Amino acid sequence: MMARWRNNPESYGRLARGLHWGVALLFIAAYCAVYYRHWFTVKDTPENWIALQLHLSIGVTIAVFVILRVIWVMQESHPLPPPGKPWEHVAARAMHILLYVIMIYMPLTGYLGTKADTEFFFLFDIPKFPDTALFQWLVTDKFGLSFEEWEAPLDFIHKKSGAYLVWVLVLLHAGAAIYHHVVRRDNTLRRMWSGQ
Ligand code: HEM
Ligand code: HEM
Repeated sequence: MMARWRNNPESYGRLARGLHWGVALLFIAAYCAVYYRHWFTVKDTPENWIALQLHLSIGVTIAVFVILRVIWVMQESHPLPPPGKPWEHVAARAMHILLYVIMIYMPLTGYLGTKADTEFFFLFDIPKFPDTALFQWLVTDKFGLSFEEWEAPLDFIHKKSGAYLVWVLVLLHAGAAIYHHVVRRDNTLRRMWSGQ
């Protein structure tokens, strides 16, 4: 049978599934890298730096996946929702939109508020935002802010959301998928996992 790349009314196609699970794995990896750094490394050691660089590289990769995902989702129709009450459909839809918002603002606040270059998986360097012409034009000239003033709110949003909000919402979302699979015994998880 020919591989089905696009969604159909019953389930997700290959591309939507690949992008979804790719991002899900990268989210877990971004968390592992940053909390490995916090909990298991000592400041100013090579391990500490490598863990940070892995977090930055994984975060930038998520941004690339998300750009592709948004382009794809904008011209794809969503499979029909599984059977459920109207409020459940609204809750699932609201959660999916919220997860998109998170997938966009987490890498953005991370990159715009960091004073380290990203050594992308130690292959090549991505210059930090304060070294770019855009920073000079927008932040220094237009807003008249120093990097510290600019960075403080972005850092706050990135770190507080990462520490208290994002993982809670992802767990709720994954929990709902498992609930559908185990309790309701419908194909919600299967249609994202194998497209069946
Ligand atoms: C969806 C992508 C991302 C997620 C889920 C994420 C999540 C997190 C989390 C959970 C923390 C630790 C918060 C804390 O407890 O203090 C953190 C810290 C940080 N993130 Fe991200 N992040 C992402 C992308 C990025 C990107 C793209 C960059 C920069 C290029 C970045 C730069 C940083 C920096 C510099 C820190 C502070 C590191 C530290 O305190 O050790 N993040 N992020
Ligand atoms: C790791 C555990 C995860 C599981 C078990 C899981 C499971 C699922 C399932 C079964 C669906 C299909 C729901 C439906 O058809 O109504 C779905 C959709 C979705 N998931 Fe996840 N997911 C996980 C992680 C994530 C993460 C980390 C994100 C993003 C931060 C995410 C964002 C989304 C979005 C936006 C949709 C809507 C469909 C789309 O536009 O791709 N998921 N997920």
